[in-house]
Amino acid sequence: MHEAAGSETLKYFEMARKYLPASLWASGSIVTSFIVERAEGSYLIDVEGRRFIDLTSQWSTNNVGNVNEEVLRAAIEGLKQYGFIIYGLNLHKAVFDLVVELLRIRPSQKLTRVALELSGTGAVDAAVKFAVKSKKRPHIISFLGQYHGYYTGTLGYGPESADARKYFENFYGNSAVLLPYPDCYRKPEYMSCEEYGKFIIDYIEDIVLRYQVAPDRISGVLFEPIACEAGVWIPPDSFIHGLRRLADNYGWFLIADEVMTGFGRTGKWFAIQHWNIDVELMPLGKGISGGIFPIAAVYGSEEAMATEPVEYGTTFGGHPAGCLAAVANIRVMEKYNLVENSERLGWKVLKRIKEWPDRYEIVGDVRGKGLAIGIEFVKDKRLKTRNPESARTVYFECIKRGVVPLMDMGDWTLRIQPPLTIEEEVLMHAVDVIEESIRLAEKEFKKR
Ligand SMILES: Cc1ncc(COP(=O)(O)O)c(C=O)c1O
Repeated sequence: MHEAAGSETLKYFEMARKYLPASLWASGSIVTSFIVERAEGSYLIDVEGRRFIDLTSQWSTNNVGNVNEEVLRAAIEGLKQYGFIIYGLNLHKAVFDLVVELLRIRPSQKLTRVALELSGTGAVDAAVKFAVKSKKRPHIISFLGQYHGYYTGTLGYGPESADARKYFENFYGNSAVLLPYPDCYRKPEYMSCEEYGKFIIDYIEDIVLRYQVAPDRISGVLFEPIACEAGVWIPPDSFIHGLRRLADNYGWFLIADEVMTGFGRTGKWFAIQHWNIDVELMPLGKGISGGIFPIAAVYGSEEAMATEPVEYGTTFGGHPAGCLAAVANIRVMEKYNLVENSERLGWKVLKRIKEWPDRYEIVGDVRGKGLAIGIEFVKDKRLKTRNPESARTVYFECIKRGVVPLMDMGDWTLRIQPPLTIEEEVLMHAVDVIEESIRLAEKEFKKR
């Protein structure tokens, strides 16, 4: 058990209150729990020298471990060699080093080109632009609860929450047709998960295309193959294969947002490989460079990227140091079999926690693929009422015990998304800590 936050931490909390945007410290925020001073491997170390097991990998970014030495060295070499060269104006060699590697590991033969960006948000934005401009069709289909970034554009087609869109509603026009994502935990009771996925596909075809938008006005379908930010929603096969069928029938692109799920997170290099489907566009970010240097990319098909000029990008997109960090990141993932590690450790954790919904009143569901695992808290198992109070208790009890799970306020699903390099015994210890924290939260819940 860690000592409570001391004066050094409180000093920074005070500064946060004074100098940072209110969203980072407002009451109810889970951000200000400790102040990181250093990171290494599976750990975060705070200003008081306390060590925390990092189950977040910084939102699935540091998949190769915090401060991976090999990736760091590559980025430093890149900086020494190039400083900064702008990719949209003066092409540099590091672009080709990365593009060749990305094409080597591509998940679909249809993906023949690569555009570079700076952030996941930028990559999604660019992918939608490639779709709309090359198809010359103004609409895309997208799904409620998905997250594609907080910028105004991406919030238009990735409405993570109604709150995030508040006051900006008029920025979005009607370019995105927004539909439910098959969250199988909260599906209608009388349907199986597969039936729910099929229902949404049928709804698109029978209702949306008949009454809302003609199929030849739609350029693509933007979807997360596993919706991690929403609370690790794993869609049924009927949904993913149904999207592919619709795209083939009506000439739409499938745009799979793998910013979070890519680079081994779900036990495959890319999550669409769980379904073995082709897609025409795929934004990548986060784990692409192990968190060492920001860079993002978009895979595209010939039709998406070679038929129309498309304006996309930002000054720092395709930074040489980011390109070389990303190349090193791929090599590290291969050298240490991190995709296999993700799958193997994910199974072990799921096996260990799968009984929790039976054992604990407040645990509604556990689900996951690879090292993207979610634990959902409820007040009532039958009604599936969300339980923010217990979720928060579990989160803070874990922090007290030196474990940092990932949690987003809103969906109240506690997530286990550690670096894919995490040592098995460290991970299993963290799972013990989560269980101990659930026991405490359950006791508190019963007292209420
Ligand atoms: C699926 C998905 N797409 C896009 C983004 C945005 O990426 P970034 O925050 O790097 O801009 C995120 C970030 O969490 C994400 O999870």
